[in-house]
Amino acid sequence: MEAKDKFTLGLELPTDPRWVNIAEMNIRAILVDHAYCEQKAASSCISLIIAYPEKDKLVEVLTPVVAEEWSHFERVMQELRKRGYGLDRPRKDLYVEKLSQVLRRGGNREQQLLEKLLMNALIEARSCERFKLLWKNISDPALSEFYYELMVSEAGHYRNFLALAKEYIPEEEVMERWRALLQEEAAIMLQMEVRDDRMH
Ligand SMILES: [Fe+2]
Ligand SMILES: [Fe+2]
Repeated sequence: MEAKDKFTLGLELPTDPRWVNIAEMNIRAILVDHAYCEQKAASSCISLIIAYPEKDKLVEVLTPVVAEEWSHFERVMQELRKRGYGLDRPRKDLYVEKLSQVLRRGGNREQQLLEKLLMNALIEARSCERFKLLWKNISDPALSEFYYELMVSEAGHYRNFLALAKEYIPEEEVMERWRALLQEEAAIMLQMEVRDDRMH
């Protein structure tokens, strides 16, 4: 794997290059949206732990991820406060909404788990790709470094979610569904407007 591809994590469609230029211009809105993403990431791991307490490996792997996501939330909040901003009201998360629409409903407990784990993996992969762009393009060195660190951390989470899926569901089934969801995610990205006030 080439170094430049190291943090694209199999995504089918790279982010529109216009995003990073406009994103830096609206760093306040990006940080607020980012804070909500970290909050949702922590809460999504907690939900999985609550829904699947009998799955020891899942509980073991995701418990420290909750703490990590929550520390990301805390650090984004610090970046906001440093600039004199607060969290503000939550916004509609169109990206996550559209992703949840392509998930399969029904099926047994393991099939539902697969959908949830892969959705989390997708969000981690896309966030990682966006953090990479922020790391490379943000002129504030401290903020750029912060996004580098987060990029590495979210890449680890992406690997955790895929590994957990393979722990409970046959690998072939996981990879087939993963490839299908990567296509769906690319189609969603393509439809979405390039916005300067959203992380996705
Ligand atoms: Fe995070
Ligand atoms: Fe994460």
